[in-house]
Amino acid sequence: MTAGVTEGALGAKADAAHAAVRLDGVTIEFTLPEGRVFRAVASSDLVVGPREFAAIIGPTGCGKSTLLNAAAGLLRPASGRVTVLGAPLAGINRQAGYLFQQDALMPWKTALENVAIGLEVAGTARAEARKKARDWLARVGLAAFSERYPHMLSGGQRKRVALAQVLIRDPKIILMDEPFGPLDAQTRLIMGDLLLNLWSQDRKAVMFVTHDLEEAIALADRVVVMSAGPSARIIGDFAIPLERPRDISEIKLERAFQTLHRDIWHMLKKEVLKAYSDQQSEEAAQ
Ligand SMILES: Nc1ncnc2c1ncn2[C@@H]1O[C@H](COP(=O)(O)OP(=O)(O)OP(=O)(O)O)[C@@H](O)[C@H]1O
Ligand SMILES: [Mg+2]
Repeated sequence: MTAGVTEGALGAKADAAHAAVRLDGVTIEFTLPEGRVFRAVASSDLVVGPREFAAIIGPTGCGKSTLLNAAAGLLRPASGRVTVLGAPLAGINRQAGYLFQQDALMPWKTALENVAIGLEVAGTARAEARKKARDWLARVGLAAFSERYPHMLSGGQRKRVALAQVLIRDPKIILMDEPFGPLDAQTRLIMGDLLLNLWSQDRKAVMFVTHDLEEAIALADRVVVMSAGPSARIIGDFAIPLERPRDISEIKLERAFQTLHRDIWHMLKKEVLKAYSDQQSEEAAQ
């Protein structure tokens, strides 16, 4: 066990009773087309507090999205338990808003309609839903773009709409799967700052999956490291005690940031190399 694991695990135990999301011994398996069972995630424990921003990092293909999908109720674990705000999760996690890596905007609806739709479906009157949607578009810096359709927006602007679409519903938990992955480096920084700004005004529990360690440290209260799969596990849990509010580009220059980066990378690098060499040997065997 590393110091990171011990520290995080102790903190997690203390908060477990009031967790927003709690995974206990979660194992997730898939049946492959040839009938073989593939164990993607093995006996993973994770506790995310109600106002906590947790980043989940690990090599490609290790099981980050799988773990997030279990928290979203989109995948049922083969064994173990998912608990949401103290209640066992059965079916879809209605307390969570999910921001996917891919755009989930409806191309035939304007930015305003895309943001308002979640409220309308939940029963809010159209005029009221649209008024709130206008407010949210303003909060993500898109007041002037409300009548545009998604194809008339840049990638970064579409992400802002998607963020507003999730936040307008006021979920207690936000699940984000590499939400800024396809964006260029500068836009990622700006989106990260926007996300932190909105989150700090009304802290929710966040599970933020990324493969970018700098992004994880800059945003999160905790960085959780997954091992290379198959049977991936949570192997590291690092508290990020950097002061808030944070400016993402500035914070990377701080010594404390760099020390955290070095420590976490030390653990992550081994897993990334392992995932890479496993993939190569699989390719060679084909
Ligand atoms: N429906 C499925 N059926 C079979 N195997 C699956 C299925 N979904 C995911 N897997 C496998 O489970 C493992 C974990 O996948 P997952 O998508 O969770 O990885 P990830 O960590 O999110 O990767 P990335 O960083 O590339 O997004 C991978 O080996 C993947 O091939
Ligand atoms: Mg993924």
